[in-house]
Amino acid sequence: MNNDLFKEAKEFIRSCYSELNKTEQEIENRLHEINKQILSQGFYEHTAVELEYGAKVAWRNSNRCIGRLFWDQLNVIDKRHLNTEEEMAGALFEHIEYATNKGRIRPTITIFPQKTPNRTVRIWNHQLIRYAGYRTEQGVLGDPGSLAFTEECIKLGWEPKFGKFDILPLVIQINDNSPRLFDIRDHLTLEVPLRHPQYKWFEDLELKWYGVPIISEMMLEIGGITYTAAPFNGWYMGTEIGARNLADESRYNLLPQIGALMGLDTKSSISLWKDRALLELNTAVLHSFKEDGVSIVDHHTAAQQFKKFEEKEKEIGRSVTGDWTWLIPPMSPAATHIFHASYNNEILKPNYFYQPKPY
Ligand code: ARG
Repeated sequence: MNNDLFKEAKEFIRSCYSELNKTEQEIENRLHEINKQILSQGFYEHTAVELEYGAKVAWRNSNRCIGRLFWDQLNVIDKRHLNTEEEMAGALFEHIEYATNKGRIRPTITIFPQKTPNRTVRIWNHQLIRYAGYRTEQGVLGDPGSLAFTEECIKLGWEPKFGKFDILPLVIQINDNSPRLFDIRDHLTLEVPLRHPQYKWFEDLELKWYGVPIISEMMLEIGGITYTAAPFNGWYMGTEIGARNLADESRYNLLPQIGALMGLDTKSSISLWKDRALLELNTAVLHSFKEDGVSIVDHHTAAQQFKKFEEKEKEIGRSVTGDWTWLIPPMSPAATHIFHASYNNEILKPNYFYQPKPY
């Protein structure tokens, strides 16, 4: 067990320190220190430099992410010293505010204490900001993707609001204590009401989406050390909202409504009404975010940025790993170079991993 940990630590320290142009002596010294820590307490602690570099490289190694050109610009906030749910909630509010930055979104990660034999911290939310979903007699209200988590929140005492876009509370758990709930104050959550540059009726749908996707359920693994609470964000690619969250049949399922409002023949698939509705929904998403000054990227630009990432990595002599099935955008994939390429889906570390749901 501890042998494995030291092996993982060695691999990480060697690659991290050599990328940072540190000397062989520095590597040896650090490994000696790490070995001592592991022998005396069963684990070791990263330096601030190791933590920052590990979190960045974990992004660089995220095979499913098309936005990796910016891996080196991740803002790393070290909150490993926090001890209580209240302090953690405070740090999450700070993360939301800092990352949102009034719309000029900053890629950010907040890192809470690592997993040790004595302590595990977890954030139950899938993303810090997410809309609730409720099962009602008339079907699902809100985001069907949030049904299970919303039920948990209600069990824990959250008051359901029964709206289409209710922001769920933060749920934070330390060890086996019962999880604590924290409401996110309205002024912290930047949201974008959706309108269309040509279709005046679009705003009558009263659709919106939140500005910053902050994934909070994954764990960060660096050199054999596990950070079970390490929420991170970039900015949205338009299709995530327009071609998935609002369009999937198992999510907000808005294409039939939009198609009908466009006057399309939604009975015949050869009218391509779904494709036309998708296009206009995605146009509305990009138009509204742009107009409100909230960072967003369209899928063509994102693919070009990914191309640049591939070229840069090649230049440095690193190979890019990737998951083709996730890298292709859900709209017009063959209009990007990614569709016509192939990628090695090997999982390198450091990386972000799914972990079992705590509920
Ligand atoms: N696809 C997820 C969503 O629609 C967000 C995943 C992370 N996306 C990102 N652009 N960093 O909410």
